[in-house]
Amino acid sequence: MAQRTNDLGRAEACANIALAKYWGKSKKGDNLTAVPSLSMTLDSLRTRTEVKFETGLTEDLVVLNSQLVHGSETARVSALLDRFRNLADIDLKARVTSMNNFPTAAGLASSASGFAALAAASSQACGLELAAAELSSQARKSSASAGRSLFGGFVELLSETPQASPVAPANHFPLAMIVLIVRSSRKEASSSWGMQHTASTCPYYESWLHHAPEMFAQVRSAVLEKDFTKLAEAMEHSTRLMHATMMTSLPPILYFRGATVELMHEVAKRRAAGHPEAYTMDAGPNVKVLTPAQNLEAALAFYKSYPGVESIVTCRPGPGTAFLSHSSALETAQRENEVS
Ligand code: DP6
Repeated sequence: MAQRTNDLGRAEACANIALAKYWGKSKKGDNLTAVPSLSMTLDSLRTRTEVKFETGLTEDLVVLNSQLVHGSETARVSALLDRFRNLADIDLKARVTSMNNFPTAAGLASSASGFAALAAASSQACGLELAAAELSSQARKSSASAGRSLFGGFVELLSETPQASPVAPANHFPLAMIVLIVRSSRKEASSSWGMQHTASTCPYYESWLHHAPEMFAQVRSAVLEKDFTKLAEAMEHSTRLMHATMMTSLPPILYFRGATVELMHEVAKRRAAGHPEAYTMDAGPNVKVLTPAQNLEAALAFYKSYPGVESIVTCRPGPGTAFLSHSSALETAQRENEVS
């Protein structure tokens, strides 16, 4: 095998939030998804990652947010690195340094931006020139939602499909996403475990598989038509269908907290009163409120002092994963390691 040294890769990726949810893996394996999903890439939640293959390392070293990590977290990174080592015929171990510009403790999923940035940085460190679709496929094998973060704006990942693809660019539909953090702790169980548990114990799981594609189709056409009301209704229904399968698993997976439910009522009440706002929740209790950009200030003014909201992060449709050429990239990420 080739012995390549000092090959360095650096990349930055944004997180994304599914407007039409995926929950469940395909029986075909390879981390393919059982249902289609559509996400918005988020400009202000970013991960910067540096990968360097080095002689003399006996194992991959992974530093996340300035902390050396071990065990399953390193194993997941090594599994992705192994695929790139195979593609590039490299047998060196790597040093991986990754920084989020948002606190991991805020309970915001970082695996999407993390594995998208890792896939891009690894390919560059290997000297491979892969198309975004191939990088998306590689990131998706590690975390399905990460496949969507390779692209900016609005992105779909069809069921049993290796790579995500762009639906519309970031400037297509001027929206904003307000992340209301109601509980700043890391989630208890991994999504992969949760999906497997849901598939094997929820009596409504087949029904979810049946209905999710219709929700996806409605979200997709609402995005393309820039129809906020249609998007709000389909997005919220997709969220509730997904959480219903989680809650009716045995034992249940109940991510909602009191403030989550209060906020669902509040958003519904406000929309009925003419405020264009809609909610979505992922594998955690935080509520993400989607709103047209022109309503952002009014929505922020209302939600920032809402009981139970610990902090807020505001996002707009963001760019796809990019390679970084500046050596100061990670230091900059460190300085920016604060959100309002
Ligand atoms: C609820 O992509 O984190 O956010 O592939 O096991 O890493 P793994 O799961 P992940 O699941 C995301 C689930 C979700 C909905 C979504 O993003 O579509």
